[in-house]
Amino acid sequence: MCCFWSIGIVLKEYSKSTARLEGKVVIVTGANTGIGKETARDLAQRGARVIIACRDIAKAEAAASEIRAETGNQQVIVRKLDLADTKSIREFAEKFLAEEKELHILINNAGVMLCPYSKTADGFEMHLGVNHLGHFLLTFLLLERLKQCAPARIVNVSSLAHHGGRIRFHDLHGEKSYNRGLAYCHSKLANVLFTRELARRLQGTKVTANVLHPGSVYSELVRHSFVMTWLWKIFSFFLKTPCEGAQTSIYCAVAEELDSVTGQYFSDCQPAYVSPRGRDDETAKKLWSVSCELLGIQWD
Ligand SMILES: NC(=O)c1ccc[n+]([C@@H]2O[C@H](COP(=O)([O-])OP(=O)(O)OC[C@H]3O[C@@H](n4cnc5c(N)ncnc54)[C@H](OP(=O)(O)O)[C@@H]3O)[C@@H](O)[C@H]2O)c1
Repeated sequence: MCCFWSIGIVLKEYSKSTARLEGKVVIVTGANTGIGKETARDLAQRGARVIIACRDIAKAEAAASEIRAETGNQQVIVRKLDLADTKSIREFAEKFLAEEKELHILINNAGVMLCPYSKTADGFEMHLGVNHLGHFLLTFLLLERLKQCAPARIVNVSSLAHHGGRIRFHDLHGEKSYNRGLAYCHSKLANVLFTRELARRLQGTKVTANVLHPGSVYSELVRHSFVMTWLWKIFSFFLKTPCEGAQTSIYCAVAEELDSVTGQYFSDCQPAYVSPRGRDDETAKKLWSVSCELLGIQWD
């Protein structure tokens, strides 16, 4: 159950939609823990068929059986997806498209933060690879199905940290200089720019794309930093619970008043300020074409 004792004002910010989702198919990436798990739990409670897309099947099965038991919704399915490997992303999409006839909501939630320098299976810097390129490819592979099932929604989970990001086209993979905090910020700015350009391209399709900051949430996100893990523990009382942190994702996924809202950035279930770099259309377009080149795809 969701508790609202940690930050009083969260009560005001709670997604109040009573929307039901029977007959709707939803994918939530990284739903075995944290914000993603709470998002999946809420959408399952509303009756959706929820695909929990995770890299660790054992953890994902544990989360799925907990959600099934709590909500009584047996349509909570686990599928393998490692966003740090384009082969796994393609296999996930291929299996999903073969098995499922419909897709109405795609929640690109999974993320990594403060990783020591490392690369994905395809040689992309880890934050950029998982947080941006992995979700970019996944969205590309599933987009036709979303269009066929429109009205449909794409929800990208970014962060307030996008304010500190830059798209360093001259050194996208941090080979010349690397700072793990900044690498996270860059990838979260990429989420914002991707959403902006995607929404522009999807005009008239009845598929919307929005992006959000979930708040500062007591989750496993800081696991790669000993110091941050301790700070998160010490200040946990002031942080949102994962359930509270999921509210803006849920709001973007189901709120009736957002039916035709697209290309917006939300925080606490309301529109929020996007950094000037997050509003730069030229950078958004360039990032789009560079991402396509890196992934070897044509997305016109
Ligand atoms: N927590 C915050 O304060 C905060 C603030 C702003 C934005 N956010 C954003 O919120 C989103 C969810 O974060 P969270 O706080 O819930 O963190 P979390 O508890 O660490 O959950 C992250 C999820 O992403 C998954 N993941 C990581 N690498 C993956 C990969 N290669 N392939 C597939 N899944 C992968 C994790 O799976 P494993 O468990 O297997 O690693 C986990 O399920 C992220 O996008 C994050 O950037 C969080």
